[in-house]
Amino acid sequence: MSDTTTITKLNVTDRDGTQRKIDWEPQQSLMEALRDNDFPILASCGGTASCATCHVFLPKEVCDSLGERSEDELELLEEVSCYDAGTSRLACQVSQDESLDGISVTIAPEED
Ligand code: FES
Repeated sequence: MSDTTTITKLNVTDRDGTQRKIDWEPQQSLMEALRDNDFPILASCGGTASCATCHVFLPKEVCDSLGERSEDELELLEEVSCYDAGTSRLACQVSQDESLDGISVTIAPEED
């Protein structure tokens, strides 16, 4: 069972390769945590899985642990040029959870 009050950590790699450790607050989506920490996440759709500007790569085992992507998320990701079936996720569709403490997140390249 997840503890909804625990702040977890994220190890984020930005598009230029720089790495930073940030807090991931309870109730935040992964997209919100990245955006609120000034990473270049446009999130132009506001988190409704319709813009793909929050595309990130997660370790495959983390991706697997999150379960199936929704149909909307998968459709959108498949249109992105750097989509990777094993590691791509839309950060707005990933909720904070204690089990994700300390995971690595890599921000995907910007689409042309
Ligand atoms: S914020 Fe638009 S798809 Fe995630």
